[in-house]
This record gives sequence, C-alpha cells and structure tokens, in this order.
Amino acid sequence: MRLFSNRSVNTTFNIISSLLLVALFLALAFNNYRREQALIINGAVDNARSIARQIIVTRDYISKIVTDEPEHNYNLVPQVVATKIAQQLTSGSRYYVRQVSLRYRNPSNRPDSFETNQLTIFRDVKAQETWQVANQNGEKALRFMLPMKADQSCLACHGSYDTAPHFVQVRFPRGHFSYGYKVGEVIGAVSVSVPMNELYRQISSNLKRDLFFDGAVLIIFVIITGLLIRKTILTPVKAVATHISDVARTGNFSTRLDKTINNEIGELINSFNELMSELDRKTLQRIESEDRYRNFIEIAQSPIITFMADGKIVISNQKAERLFGLTKEELLGQSVFDFMENGEELRAAVEDYYSAGTSKLIGTTTRQKVRDVCGQIIEVEMVISVSQSDQTQMFSAILRAVK
Ligand code: HEC
Repeated sequence: MRLFSNRSVNTTFNIISSLLLVALFLALAFNNYRREQALIINGAVDNARSIARQIIVTRDYISKIVTDEPEHNYNLVPQVVATKIAQQLTSGSRYYVRQVSLRYRNPSNRPDSFETNQLTIFRDVKAQETWQVANQNGEKALRFMLPMKADQSCLACHGSYDTAPHFVQVRFPRGHFSYGYKVGEVIGAVSVSVPMNELYRQISSNLKRDLFFDGAVLIIFVIITGLLIRKTILTPVKAVATHISDVARTGNFSTRLDKTINNEIGELINSFNELMSELDRKTLQRIESEDRYRNFIEIAQSPIITFMADGKIVISNQKAERLFGLTKEELLGQSVFDFMENGEELRAAVEDYYSAGTSKLIGTTTRQKVRDVCGQIIEVEMVISVSQSDQTQMFSAILRAVK
C-alpha cells in the first residue's frame, strides 16, 4: 500500500477503481467472446452435420434402387450422384463437401491427412462424428466428418469382385482394395469444411466494439466519481485543513466553517466549529483572568513576579521592576534564579514541588537575598504561591524588602 501513501485520495480511488473495472470488463469481454465463439462453432457444426446427412441419405437411397443402370450411365453410381448433389448444394458458398475413403476408387476421393486421421478413428474407435476447427490453406475452417457404413446394398459393388457389376470389374480389377467390405464396416466418410474466417472476424470486431464501449464507460465513470469525490469529500476536508492551519498560524479562533452538508463531513465541520468555539471561550477566559491578575498585582504594595517551573519570569509588577532596576521588557523572559543569592536552592525547591507536589520553600515565608541589576544585595522576605494555568504550573513570588 506504500504505492498509494503519497497519492491523493482521488488518485488512489481512481487507480483502484479503474484497475477493478478494467479487470471486470476484460473478464466480461473475454467471456462474451468465448460464448460467441462457441455459438458460431455450434452453428457451423449443425450446418455441416445436416449437409453430411443429406449426402448419406441420398447415397443410401440411390444405392438401394440402382441395379445395372450405371453400366450405361456412370452418373448413376451412388457416389457420383451424391457428389453431384453435394456440388449443387454448396455451389456459390465457400463450403466444401467431399466423400472420402481410406480404400478409394477415385483418386479425387483420396483423404487428406486430417481426413485420414478421422477415418482411422471411425474405423478403430467407432466414433459417431468428429469435428475440429483447423487451419486450412491459411484460413480457419471447421472440419466436420460423418462416417458412412456399408449396408447390404453397398456390397453389390463393394463386396466381392466376383459379384460386382461388370462396369465395376472393368474399372477396378480383382484384388483392388475397394472390394471386400462387410455390412456395418466404415467404408468412408462425408467430409465437410466450413470456412470460419468471416465469422471469427465478426466476433473479433464485436469484441473490439465491446472493449471500446467499456473503455468509454470507464472514462466516464472515472470522471464522474472524481468530480463527486472532489465535491463531497476532498474540497470540504481541504477547507477544514486550511482553516486549522490558519488558526495555528494566526491564533484567531473566531472563524467558523459553513456547514452545507449533512453527512460525516458535515459532522467533521460541526466538530471543528465546536472546537473553535470552545477554544475561543477558553482564550477569552484566560485573557480576562490574566488581565485581572495583572491589574491586581500592579496595585499591590509589594514586588511580585510570576515565573514558570524553569524559572522564566512571565509576569511582573512595577514594584518588582523597580526592585531589580529593570524595565518590564528587560525583566520578562529572564530566569528568576539568576536574581537570587540562593538561586540553586530555589530551583531545587521548585523542582521538588514540580515532581513531588510539595516543598518546604513553597507556601512559607523565608528570608532571601536578591541581587539587583547593579549587583547590589537586598534582603527580602519572600513567599511563593503556586497556581495552575492550562496544563502548566506557575509560581508567584511576593517579596518584601527587610529594612
Ligand atoms: C452400383 C455400384 C455401387 C454401389 C451400389 C455403391 N457404390 Fe460406392 N462406389 C462405386 C463406384 C464405381 C465408385 C467410384 C466412383 C468414382 O469414380 O468417383 C464408388 C465410390 C464410393 C466411395 C468414394 C471413395 C472411392 O472409392 O472413390 C464411397 C465412400 C462409397 N462408394 C461408398 C458406398 C456406400 C456407403 C454404398 C452403399 C450405401 C455404396 N458406395 C454403394 C460403386 C458403387
């Protein structure tokens, strides 16, 4: 979190919320992309499957009704009929449909490497269908395959050489690998290829649009929350901070902040104003009591000085100034101990009082020798009283010259 400790609340909030939103948007966009991808693949598989089924149904049908017609018209061979229909079905589209076999008669029905793999799977694993999105000639394509199994009617031409029609025997001599199938055996497969590039382009442009839209939402969010945070939190808090430092600088407790909002920040402002009122009242009281004290000691007949625990003189009356031969300005701030013949004893007494709350020198009248500005020793009777002001103790010494 050190990363954020030197940044403003606004920046910190913006950074954190932006990161969270970016993560959220990316996750959503990625999820969307995956869903659309699954959708188009499903669609393509459905399409390919229905084309393949039509081909197989057509071939099965022809195989059952033709007998020796292909003898005169090769175009009535089930394979050839199915191929022609497939061509017409897919003409004008970028689909392609082939019927392939590991033991082909027509070299143009030779399977490519993908089809060879699938045919082996059909032959050995007895899969119902297979599909996969693959790269074909540099383009993405869905490759779908549906196996064709030999039924009794197929064996007329794909069973034994001896029972095959004459036109088949002529073209494919005894021992050709396209003979010898049994009922139920996989004889080949319909292979459909659906071009996917265009569909992928569409979903990736959808993705780009989503991300662009999300980015715009993100920027608007950051701007609006930034403005809101500034208006509702930062500006009022800054105003309080500025006022506090003003007060510290000027010591003027009379300023109050306008409370325009009714929330936690409003409470802060309230507390600030209450604090200022309290300080204002306390200061006034202190000034008053100090004034009263000053006036009081001025009319007293004896020299009086008030000093802090460290001996520093903070208040004095004219009589005291005359006793020491100094003006008020010269006297204030000096250490009382320096004027005493027995300064160290007084210092120890004050310290005692400070730590133990009692001392033999405080509260009783003692004889002391003080020194004025010319170094002349004057003998006095001194009594010290203690008073509490704010958090500190003050000591007042009343002196009376002994003639
Ligand atoms: C009337 C004879 C005949 C019947 C019945 C027949 N076929 Fe064929 N089949 C052929 C001939 C001839 C070819 C070669 C076609 C060509 O030259 O393109 C062929 C080709 C094929 C091919 C393409 C692979 C290759 O060998 O070139 C497959 C697959 C196939 N037949 C499957 C079947 C199935 C399945 C059946 C039964 C539903 C069937 N055939 C019924 C004569 C037949």
